[in-house]
Amino acid sequence: MSSIAIEGVSKIFGKTPALKDISLDIRDGEFMVLLGPSGCGKTTLLRCVAGLEQVNGGRIRIGERDVTDLAPRDRNIAMVFQSYAVFPHMTVGSNIGFGLRMKRRPKPEIEKRVREGAELLGLVPFLDRYPAQLSGGQRQRVAVARALVMDAPVLLMDEPLSNLDALLRLQARADLKRLHKEVKRTTIYVTHDQVEAMSMGDRIAVMREGAIEQLGGPMEIYDNPATQFVGGFIGSPPMNFLRGAIRDGSFAGDGFAVPVTQMRGDLQGREMVLGVRAEHITIAGDGIPARVLVVEPLGSHALVTVLIGKTAVKVQAPIDVAVRPDQAINLHFDEPTLRWMDAGTGSAIQR
Ligand SMILES: Nc1ncnc2c1ncn2[C@@H]1O[C@H](COP(=O)(O)OP(=O)(O)OP(=O)(O)O)[C@@H](O)[C@H]1O
Ligand SMILES: [Mg+2]
Repeated sequence: MSSIAIEGVSKIFGKTPALKDISLDIRDGEFMVLLGPSGCGKTTLLRCVAGLEQVNGGRIRIGERDVTDLAPRDRNIAMVFQSYAVFPHMTVGSNIGFGLRMKRRPKPEIEKRVREGAELLGLVPFLDRYPAQLSGGQRQRVAVARALVMDAPVLLMDEPLSNLDALLRLQARADLKRLHKEVKRTTIYVTHDQVEAMSMGDRIAVMREGAIEQLGGPMEIYDNPATQFVGGFIGSPPMNFLRGAIRDGSFAGDGFAVPVTQMRGDLQGREMVLGVRAEHITIAGDGIPARVLVVEPLGSHALVTVLIGKTAVKVQAPIDVAVRPDQAINLHFDEPTLRWMDAGTGSAIQR
């Protein structure tokens, strides 16, 4: 059993609270993604779990064991660091096998595992090279392989794919996911790439300023963001937002009105934010007036940026959409998919 329980953990650097009373339960074998903007505390939380930072409050349990006061080496964890460090004086092969040698594993086993790790990350041709003879992305893969070949039941990865080019990143993402399905190690995976988070995570914890803003499955977070921040962070493009209030059957704001047929009576007149995803807006013969700003063909579809009143909104349209900048068009919003938030706090409101 290698579930991880993070219970009310806080961490303060000088006067900066980096983690504010974080609680998070990660199930045995789960792939948990920590997602959030730069500086929100992702690396700090990972380092606390690994024992590389002392917490200022709270407890951390791995399985049945309280590890809060244990040294990193006693926690049985493998970690890939954000600033991946490979040993410059060792070949790729020696680097990958480093942890296994420290554990005094038999030589044939080390060789076999190093080979497997190298194959998995496309490093076989480089096994005898030194890190100085590799590209940044290749060096990063060495660091990932070194952690993967360890059989620690807990794997912590801090932006392990950040130095790979787009194609390699896509490949490595699928490989890591496949590997996780085969060897169900409890994994905490840090990224600020929300596509990576959506595609890899069993669950995602969206972090903001040292706290968890929302925890849930990828589609749950995508479809029902708990706050405007989450909706604006998840999705490419992010959720569109319009500010206004419900009056007489429509949601009206600066220069626009969106017809709304179903709404709780007590929300009449309240300042709210409407959240709508690009794929839930269609260009129609009549409807909400808008003006085209930019048309971006993206291969499978086009992204059309329009102005609704004074607010810029992104619309997903067929690739052959016949609109051009400055054209006046009409839009239809798919009402059941609309999300509502309080204009002051940003918290979701159930309709
Ligand atoms: N050793 C340290 N001393 C002082 N402040 C620190 C230290 N490490 C981190 N911080 C601060 O704690 C906060 C969280 O940092 P952290 O590295 O956890 O962010 P992050 O979410 O990993 O960001 P990024 O996506 O940029 O890697 C930041 O405000 C950072 O400046
Ligand atoms: Mg970080």
